[in-house]
Amino acid sequence: AGLNGAVDTGRDFVAGLNLTGKKIVIFYGSQTGTAEDYGTRIAKEAKARFGLSSLVCDPEDYDFDNLDTVPEDCLVVFSLATYGEGEPTDNAVQLLEFLKEDPQFSNGGDLSNLRYVVFGLGNSTYEHFNAMARNVDNRLTELGAKRIGPRGEGDDDKSMEEDYLAWKDDMFAALQAEMGWEEGAGGDVADFEVTELSEVDQAKVYLGELSARALSGTRGVFDAKNPYAAPLIKAEELFEDGERNCVFAEFDITDSGIRYQTGDHVGVWPVNPDREVERMLSVLGLSDKRDQAIEVKSLDPALAKVPFPIPTTYETMFRNYLDISAPASRQTMGAFAKYAPSDDARAMLERLGSDKAYFHDQVGEKCLRLSEVLMLAAGDAPVATPTVWSIPVDRIIGALPRLQPRYYSISSSPKLYPNSIHVTAVVLKYDPVPGANRVFGVGTNYLLNLKQAANGTGPSEREEGAPVYHLEGPRGKYKKGVHYAAPIHVRRSNFRLPTSPKVPIVMIGPGTGVAPFRGFIQDRVALARKAKEKDGPDALKDWGTIDLFYGCRRSTWDFLYKAEWDDYARELDGKFRMHTALSREEGQPKVYVQQLLRDEGDRIGKALVQDKGYAYICGDAGNMAKAVERELATILGRAKGGSDEDGEKELKLLKDRNRLLLDPWL
Ligand code: 2AM
Repeated sequence: AGLNGAVDTGRDFVAGLNLTGKKIVIFYGSQTGTAEDYGTRIAKEAKARFGLSSLVCDPEDYDFDNLDTVPEDCLVVFSLATYGEGEPTDNAVQLLEFLKEDPQFSNGGDLSNLRYVVFGLGNSTYEHFNAMARNVDNRLTELGAKRIGPRGEGDDDKSMEEDYLAWKDDMFAALQAEMGWEEGAGGDVADFEVTELSEVDQAKVYLGELSARALSGTRGVFDAKNPYAAPLIKAEELFEDGERNCVFAEFDITDSGIRYQTGDHVGVWPVNPDREVERMLSVLGLSDKRDQAIEVKSLDPALAKVPFPIPTTYETMFRNYLDISAPASRQTMGAFAKYAPSDDARAMLERLGSDKAYFHDQVGEKCLRLSEVLMLAAGDAPVATPTVWSIPVDRIIGALPRLQPRYYSISSSPKLYPNSIHVTAVVLKYDPVPGANRVFGVGTNYLLNLKQAANGTGPSEREEGAPVYHLEGPRGKYKKGVHYAAPIHVRRSNFRLPTSPKVPIVMIGPGTGVAPFRGFIQDRVALARKAKEKDGPDALKDWGTIDLFYGCRRSTWDFLYKAEWDDYARELDGKFRMHTALSREEGQPKVYVQQLLRDEGDRIGKALVQDKGYAYICGDAGNMAKAVERELATILGRAKGGSDEDGEKELKLLKDRNRLLLDPWL
């Protein structure tokens, strides 16, 4: 690994610090890029405050045996995400292993010279909240290193952003005091330089393509870096009760070379809805220049990579690459105040930036996006043509995150559907607070638009106020005959069936949590067909039981795939049992999946303990998953002939052995 393009110092980050004269190195333990983003933000802010540049490094690319040789006037920052049950991200495994064992440092000493900072990213609905940051922090302290300022612990379940903002001010104050770094040395720094191109080869301008290969049309494997434009060949609404709708989407992957396994996730890359694109362009006064080709250059590639392919156009940047639909972040408010079109607008932005409660009331709880906040501050009526803000485009690029793919549990099995990927998703829409505009989820409403287009119904069917998307894709490439395509890629998961059908399985998935289990059952159906072909009608007699605990509101309303389950049960010779909890059935008491689980407790306990079965939970990671885990613990305790506490231990053991697997959604 070269250090950010300079002379190659290999895996030695201390040599990198010495060579570049930089004082800060930032390691990010990141899986999806969030911890990396926070690492980069710390770097940017250190530059703005102290005028100090940082090395931003992937810990996988470096060795840590020289942590004891970091010069005393230097700082090591860790921005570390914790995954699932307290695990490190893939790229930080090696760092944690090194620290956990008995580390031998290159000078043979301890870490008393080392000064460091830790920010953790976790989720408090999990038991091992921020375990990675805590473990690294505790180990470094044990080894004699000195942490500057408090340890930051961001909570994705509540407000990662506010946790970060609250933490970083104390942290930077502590740096000033303990490192002797001076504030005000940096000033307002740009990360990017945007150039409007007067002459450009139009064929090389990105109009929404997600990779160089997609732009040039060359062949090769499809993956997260180069998603496949998969035609949506079939789509329907599984139910629509006036308030909620649930989309079933079938993507065609014939001849794409894409393979998936039952239990994998599919990433779908949405675009921003038309009205978001238009509002953003007008607030910035760029509507008339929407097709202008632009080049973007990073002024400090170590701090900020250009987040999307270039050259592109203003419109494409906002439609395809930047997340302009996300709620506005408080930190950008103060930074944009100086570009305000009036004194009142400036005052409002400054206050939004500095007053947390005010920000929460005016922006946060209404889930306003950046362009909406700018209109609000300028005093524009919501539907009026916005007052133009002369915010330089490079600052907008620096302030907005990149539009991310949305992941869904695949609800089909490749054994029955080798050429397609099924998605089951509830279309997200909600009213954040009374009187505020309704919020429509970007990914699922994109799917809904694709579905409406595929069926030829179009906007006529759309709820008032629901977003409209441009579906043709770059250069019209996503219009494939009568169907539209969306860029997708497959992400592997650890949500796997036991290979042998003799092993019993227990699946718990209310609502759309049933999605991966439809795939699981299809998998077993395919296996059953083969077995019967080979061994005749009694082929399934040694099979383990297959129990699915499903929940919905009413049997006639939102019962997903209602027509399919009986057929599956027939093919599985009664090995498969479906238990349906109805929570709002006319004239009947409310029933949740955990109650049905309790009713079947003895049998389920035996399947899991004596018969070494597998259990799976999918769906709402909050109350549902917790309640189900509690119920399972009780059942396991009883099956072991012991207490609830024994059950808790058994539950943990099952998790450790990958016999209790979770696919939770937040
Ligand atoms: P409810 O919305 O009627 O309360 C799918 O969303 C199903 O899961 C619905 O029937 C829903 O019931 C139910 N559900 C909601 N909260 C739950 C919880 N904490 N545990 C189990 N099921 C729950």
